[in-house]
Amino acid sequence: MKVYISNMELISILKEICRKTNIKCYIVGGFIRDFFLGVKNYDIDITIEGNGIEFAKILNKYINGTLKVYDKFKTASITAENYIIDIASARCEYYKYPAALPVVKFSDIKEDIARRDFTINMLAYDVLNDAIIDYYNGLKDLQNKVIRVINDKSFIDDPTRIFRALRYSGRYGFKIDDKTDILIKKAVNGGFIKKLSNDRIINEIFLFLKENKTDLIIESMISYGIQKEIFDNIKLNIKKINSTINNGDIILYRFLLLFYNIDDKGIEYLLNRYNLRRKYIEALKELLLTKNNLCFLKDNCDNIYIYNTFKNIKYEVLMAINISEDVTIKKIINHYINHLSHIKLTVNGNDIRNAGLNPGPVYSIILQKIFNAKVQGKIKNHDEELNLLKLYVNKVKKGELI
Ligand code: CTP
Repeated sequence: MKVYISNMELISILKEICRKTNIKCYIVGGFIRDFFLGVKNYDIDITIEGNGIEFAKILNKYINGTLKVYDKFKTASITAENYIIDIASARCEYYKYPAALPVVKFSDIKEDIARRDFTINMLAYDVLNDAIIDYYNGLKDLQNKVIRVINDKSFIDDPTRIFRALRYSGRYGFKIDDKTDILIKKAVNGGFIKKLSNDRIINEIFLFLKENKTDLIIESMISYGIQKEIFDNIKLNIKKINSTINNGDIILYRFLLLFYNIDDKGIEYLLNRYNLRRKYIEALKELLLTKNNLCFLKDNCDNIYIYNTFKNIKYEVLMAINISEDVTIKKIINHYINHLSHIKLTVNGNDIRNAGLNPGPVYSIILQKIFNAKVQGKIKNHDEELNLLKLYVNKVKKGELI
């Protein structure tokens, strides 16, 4: 059984291991940043001055989580009851060329911190000495609500950091410091976004969609002129993009809102450039098609027409339309969801056979007619379905049209 551990318990376990093994261990990055911001974070990054994998194996004896070892990167992760703990060996990184994946060399905590993106992510907790390491005034920046890089080449070496700056700025309501802002503009105008692989770009966009303030983040992305670099002429939508849905896939829903105004050409562009999972492209096509049919929906629309318009539409597509369109469409969609979408027949082919008709294609015609009558509200319960079924069966027996 996995063990539930509190922050304090984890720290005392780490301390004990450090003492026993004489290995130095630090909690770094987002967990420390969020601790000072009073934000819950269940992802803990631990940096070891030494062999991270060996340390992870010892730690997991205490925690009894699920240990995964990544030999190639000399890292490990432990999924515990209430945490995901990533353990890495302290390293420094350098980039052979802009936007390349970094070349990694093992080092000490000082170098490990220096390679990191923003000062608010450059804080570390020295477990053994019970002390916060703050070489770059990260605490001051947290207090002043500022996103700041310490390295002028930061965005050129790793342009994903441009997206990360926007994400943190939107998430915490932090300002991007003036010099950092200039460096972002230089990197964008210098064409460095395009040096990133398309997979890394779209991954950052999906991370935006997970945030509570997606609208602010996308807005600032647009104001930095990044949109053109990554989506060409596609017009992005941010209206209602922070909204949530009760069921279903929230990321897919927000993805559909982001591209709510897309046209066929836009979908083609996304398809060609990004390796999007099929469900995203299919939902986008479904959205476009359904939107094109909305003009036929009126206040006094027939239930069967409404049912047929929406019956095969994904929930997330429906919800995206529901929140974006005018009150008439909203009313119709709510009517569909609340009254039509769950309709099921309680009669079936056996009932038709019991009524004395030999199996054949007419079965599905009869069942469809009963279903339509139910959708139209003409019949409501099993008895009424059965009566209508018998009526149709008798007509067929007499050779009458149904
Ligand atoms: N990091 C970095 N540059 C990147 C990605 C990550 O310097 N391009 C560093 C940062 O120090 C960051 C740490 O690696 O704190 C872990 O990265 P990640 O898990 O992506 O971020 P978190 O800090 O955990 O923040 P989030 O809440 O966004 O996950």
